[in-house]
Amino acid sequence: MYRTHNCGELRSKDNNIEVTLSGWVQKSRNKGFMIWIDLRDRYGVTQLIFDEKRSSKDLFEKAKSLGREFVIQVKGIVIERASINPNIDTGEIEILVSELTILNESITPPFTIEENTDGGEELRMKYRYLDIRRTSIKEKLIFRHKVSSEIRNYLNNLNFVDVETPYLIKSTPEGARDFVVPSRMSQGEFYALPQSPQTFKQLLMVGGIDRYYQIVKCFRDEDLRADRQPEFTQIDCEMSFVNQEDVLTTFEGLIKHLLKEIKGISIDEFPRMTYDQAMSKYGCDKPDIRFAMELIDLNDVSKHKDFNVFNSSELVIGIRIEKGNTLTRKQIDNYTNWVKRPQVGAKGLIYLRCNDDGTYKSSVDKFFDQDDLKKWADKTKAESGDLVFILSGKIAEVRAQMSALRLEIAENLGLRNSEEFAPLWVTDFPLLEWDKESKQFHAMHHPFTSPKIDELDLLEKSPEKVKANAYDLVLNGNEIGGGSIRIHDKKIQSLMFNHLGFTEKEASQQFGFLMNAFEYGAPPHGGIALGLDRLVALLDGQESIKEYIAFPKNNSGKDIMIDAPSKIDDSQLNELGIKLNKK
Ligand code: AMO
Repeated sequence: MYRTHNCGELRSKDNNIEVTLSGWVQKSRNKGFMIWIDLRDRYGVTQLIFDEKRSSKDLFEKAKSLGREFVIQVKGIVIERASINPNIDTGEIEILVSELTILNESITPPFTIEENTDGGEELRMKYRYLDIRRTSIKEKLIFRHKVSSEIRNYLNNLNFVDVETPYLIKSTPEGARDFVVPSRMSQGEFYALPQSPQTFKQLLMVGGIDRYYQIVKCFRDEDLRADRQPEFTQIDCEMSFVNQEDVLTTFEGLIKHLLKEIKGISIDEFPRMTYDQAMSKYGCDKPDIRFAMELIDLNDVSKHKDFNVFNSSELVIGIRIEKGNTLTRKQIDNYTNWVKRPQVGAKGLIYLRCNDDGTYKSSVDKFFDQDDLKKWADKTKAESGDLVFILSGKIAEVRAQMSALRLEIAENLGLRNSEEFAPLWVTDFPLLEWDKESKQFHAMHHPFTSPKIDELDLLEKSPEKVKANAYDLVLNGNEIGGGSIRIHDKKIQSLMFNHLGFTEKEASQQFGFLMNAFEYGAPPHGGIALGLDRLVALLDGQESIKEYIAFPKNNSGKDIMIDAPSKIDDSQLNELGIKLNKK
């Protein structure tokens, strides 16, 4: 038997019993006559003691030879510690060792495997298996397991069936680039790895499965950010004979279940907002509603004077910062520089100070008198002691800039509390969006999303005005899920492909299998996919998903531990019929 107990469970009630433990040597302290070792396993750390007086000479010498991360097995008696360590669960006891077996040696690890490690990100990625020994990473993986188990519990109870769909498929149009896999048997042809199982889950509905889910890897070749990985995991779901309300209720239930089971938090009905409302109130389609600071349209109170910047703008917007008049000139300058960075792209930032004596001070008071400024304050509901920031420009740009500034201010003011959870449904997304590069409409969600049927006649004349039965689930300013009610009618699906610029031939080549399936009685259906990595990270109070993935890619999409992607042999290339352009 390798162990009778684990390294996290012994307490003073276990004093005097004989135990066997196995684990890794985290730390060794040699005082000459006494050696203490911190023995670590998945469950915790237990202190071992070797004493020149009480241990045999051989044993004491062997203990001296132990290096960091050696794997050992010890037998010994649980004894009370001379001085209790309140920082660890087993801090009341230690093990007076009588037998020591070295199960495996270790070379010196490249960084210390303790909470405050000296290893940088790159090094820790290269030796990810060592990083996983650290409590914080290990606990994140266990936390993820807890979340996915609860997801399965919830969906299984609602009669969802977990069905696996293939990874070697034909391209799915989710808007990113595909990762492709060359075929040896059909040279010159390629599989695509799924960006999502979208078409398969719809085919499962045609197959009568009725309620499907899968916790599934998806692959997207896109630029990476803190909340994006090239391979990530979706909780992918689809339901038959449902309308939008049914889907929203079911998945609102899932998030409530997770918040209750994992965080012990009960949340009332999630607020809902249309896409248009989100854009005008918050300037983005995934607003963080843990705090207010809404965007206020100041057009009607700002365009009547000789201030050309406002007069020539499509939109002038302000946000009120409660008690913001305490901001110094320098802090305001910093925000001005912040919005002028190319990533935000504003030309400048205008402020309105609401002084305690009821007067106003603004960076543009050369153009506007106290009455004008009062109107700005009234409109933004700013009171004495508050500050208003104002940006102006083209509608889409100025909204995006103000949205970014809103988050930055909230971050600085500590309003983005990671232990507070503010979910939100954003509904009624536009069906199509104009793509400047290809000069074509693209499906904003994907081409299988149903338009609002009563807006179908707008499709010819004003396609940009047509709304879709599409919805996103937003948590604390992050998009954690998206879905839609699908088109289940072949004629409407053809019409959509047509508007997306596919010829009949192209549509049939790419999606013929789905169109064919729709000839055989496709039920009305709809669904959603939630990003598991994002959901897990957010539930744990973080926004970066990397640490919640056992073996993530770095920011250049590389796995530096296994060195992937990497070159392959010429013989392998030959087999695949691939010739590289060697420069
Ligand atoms: P969508 O493209 O919105 O919808 O994806 C669903 C959710 O997956 C997460 N996500 C990501 N997470 C990490 N890294 C990425 N690169 C990444 N890309 C997306 C997000 C997102 O909300 N087939 C549709 C769903 C449907 O219509 O049912 C789909 O894939 O949290």
